[in-house]
Amino acid sequence: MESSSPHIAILASGTGSNALKIISHFNHKKIKVNFSILSNRKEAPVLEKAKELGIPYMSFNKQTFIEENVVLDYLKERNIKLIVLAGFLWLLPKKYVDTFPKKIINIHPSLLPKYGGKGMYGIKVHEAVVRAKDNISGITIHYVDEAYDHGQHILQKTCVIHPKDSPEVVAKKVQILEHKYFPQVVESLFLRESHNQTET
Ligand code: GRF
Repeated sequence: MESSSPHIAILASGTGSNALKIISHFNHKKIKVNFSILSNRKEAPVLEKAKELGIPYMSFNKQTFIEENVVLDYLKERNIKLIVLAGFLWLLPKKYVDTFPKKIINIHPSLLPKYGGKGMYGIKVHEAVVRAKDNISGITIHYVDEAYDHGQHILQKTCVIHPKDSPEVVAKKVQILEHKYFPQVVESLFLRESHNQTET
């Protein structure tokens, strides 16, 4: 039954390359889980891909998300092991964070606390790295709280930035780290959650 099977919900607003890497990682390792993809943009390419793959998906707007609890209710009805933000740009209201403590994670394309916070997403992050002449950048995977890019860190990985690297080159280097490590972190947290539940 859908409601009792372990479930990972992915919230994404964009192309969904990380979402797809996570799903194919679980498929490849034959780990049994139900995925769903939830997006605040009904035209987001990630939803098109969910449709092609036969993964349940839904879109929502600010009102249904915040006031009508459409997403919160959807999540509560499932055996949620993890909620993964993969390119999701809205803050999560407190009621989401409180309902799923230590079950919501996000990936950010910089070494937080550098270049995080409201408005820091996509190429803007990498432009800031180049402007600052940093010689490393990387990814941060962290738990989600009520502030942007703020919760406890789970993993950081770095890449070297050369003086001549453009923001697009930095973006590519960072994306390679994302695609390599995010699925691994999701897997290990998912297995830990599943294990904890069978223990109790
Ligand atoms: C990634 O760079 C991620 O770090 C950030 O949003 C981007 C999503 O990319 N939070 P994609 O849609 O998974 O390709």
